Amino acid sequence: MKTHRTHHCAQLRKTDISQKIVLSGWVASRRDHGGLAFVDLRDREGLTQIVLDPQKLPAAHDLRSEFVIRIEGEVVARPEGTVNTKLATGEIEVRAEQLEILNKSETPPYPLDEENVGEDLRLQYRYLDLRRPAMARNLRTRHRVCKTVRDYMDEQGFLEIETPILFKSTPEGAREYIVPSRTNPGLFFALPQSPQQFKQLLMVAGVDKYFQLARCFRDEDLRADRQPEFTQIDLEMSFITREDIYRLIEGMLKRVWKEALSLEIVTPFERVTYHDVMDSYGSDKPDRRFEMRLQDFTETFKASTFKVFAGAVAAGGVVKAMNAKGLACVTQSQIDLLTEQAKTAGAKGLAWIKVEGGTWKSPIVKFFSEAEKAALTEKLKLEEGDLILFAADQWASACEVLGKLRLVVAEMLTKMGKLSVPKDRYDFFWVVDFPLITYDHVAQRHSATHHPFTSPVEEDVPLLATHPTKVRGQHYDIVLNGVELGGGSIRIHQPEVQKRIFEDILKIPKEIAETRFGYLIKALGYGAPPHGGIALGLDRLVAILCGTESIREVIAFPKNARAQDLMTSSPAEVEPRQLRELKIQVETGNR
Ligand code: AMO
Ligand code: AMP
Repeated sequence: MKTHRTHHCAQLRKTDISQKIVLSGWVASRRDHGGLAFVDLRDREGLTQIVLDPQKLPAAHDLRSEFVIRIEGEVVARPEGTVNTKLATGEIEVRAEQLEILNKSETPPYPLDEENVGEDLRLQYRYLDLRRPAMARNLRTRHRVCKTVRDYMDEQGFLEIETPILFKSTPEGAREYIVPSRTNPGLFFALPQSPQQFKQLLMVAGVDKYFQLARCFRDEDLRADRQPEFTQIDLEMSFITREDIYRLIEGMLKRVWKEALSLEIVTPFERVTYHDVMDSYGSDKPDRRFEMRLQDFTETFKASTFKVFAGAVAAGGVVKAMNAKGLACVTQSQIDLLTEQAKTAGAKGLAWIKVEGGTWKSPIVKFFSEAEKAALTEKLKLEEGDLILFAADQWASACEVLGKLRLVVAEMLTKMGKLSVPKDRYDFFWVVDFPLITYDHVAQRHSATHHPFTSPVEEDVPLLATHPTKVRGQHYDIVLNGVELGGGSIRIHQPEVQKRIFEDILKIPKEIAETRFGYLIKALGYGAPPHGGIALGLDRLVAILCGTESIREVIAFPKNARAQDLMTSSPAEVEPRQLRELKIQVETGNR
């Protein structure tokens, strides 16, 4: 039997010169030069240049992009001046003595080395897209991270345990994918949003330390960092405090950064309260690699003649502002766009001031006193060319609006070359002291900030009855460069507390709480140990390590922004027979 290869395509070096070798791979490119054919042969590992003489090997005439070939030949030094220092194999080439075409290829729908290809086309031909070196590198990094995490968790005494994919609908969190049951017509499974309840049940089961690279499913609106199916590094531990989780995760990330990027990251990570990050950055996952902090001017404007501001303060709200440094050059239509974005984020309007040509330009500046202007200048460190943006509202809303604008403005400034966010900085920190319960003004009800299994901070428990939104949860998020990398909490382990949260606080009627979560409350009643855990978004983690914006770049077969798989054309219709078996009728005209 012939060997298909003796080396891979990134392996040969100067030290291999004169060796007879065999390589197999894909034709990445082919150039003809001086009567010879030069082929870049590609496999997962890299490229090797092959030189073929069509006089001796006439099949060389037939070679096209993406043909699969096998060559036998001799490693030779590249001629003077043709060494390619960018390529691992750039000092050598292989002079082919045998050529075999193992398979032909259709002409690819786009040149694989073309950068600007529409993502839908890439996804439709994902198997070609994944041949590109950048994608091969991403898959490899993902593998490295998974392997590192598994090794680390094993060393720490964790067991990897799989939990069911066919689960029960628990509509408290994100929208779920549901799966009809043929054997129980009219009944449905749901795909798990996370293994949350199973990992808690594993703690009741005495497993003590569980982890899983877990698939999760959420029928959400998609963005660059969201997929309908994604992977979590999911874990849970018994008899622990929050400190144990921080230490464990810091150790894991330290190891991952070392393995994947050969970088030492500094631990422990800073801990910041939810209130402080919201107050300073208007986000619970701020990108702190650039400053642009929100400043508070509530005191300054409480008696202002500008009624919008004074009125907001009188209504118990705040006035906050930020300095979009160097952005006084925005046009009116850009201001209008920012105003629209502010309104989408919940603002009533967007007051602004340009510091331009030595004066303050704004329709509202006439209302401002000298003292008010002085306060703005000082706190916002105003200079010529700056743009001030204001939000006057209740604290949470004002922070959130400016937090969103902060990102928009940063992007504008980056495009103009006025801001540069350091790409090689990794700003890890923990966000702690989230409110356990949030009041949803639209739905007019309380909901769990994280999920309803999060334990309240012990000393705040008495407030549950009187001021539920003042109770802090034992929840923690880990944030990196503006991305929520993960979140978790110490859980409620006493059944009566869990029942109270469901029934008294979240106002889930007793019977519904019973059918939805009865099994969990029941299990807690059989000696549940104190426990807690966390889940990190693996896709987001790998995307950051690979330096890509979208998690689709680090998932082999992702869905597009409409949650479709264009390669297999799914979701798709099913046979009427399948629907009949499931006792499901599809309303016609709904698609
Ligand atoms: P949470 O809902 O915060 O917590 O999810 C944990 C982490 O998973 C990632 N993530 C996603 N990644 C890609 N696409 C999505 N649609 C998506 N949704 C979430 C994020 C997020 O921080 N069971 C709890 C964890 C716990 O309490 O232990 C949970 O799922 O990085
Ligand atoms: P008005 O007096 O309503 O015309 O508002 C004057 C300016 O203040 C306009 O630029 C509005 O967009 C802006 N504005 C109105 N309400 C708010 C608010 N709550 N926060 C910040 N700016 C506002």
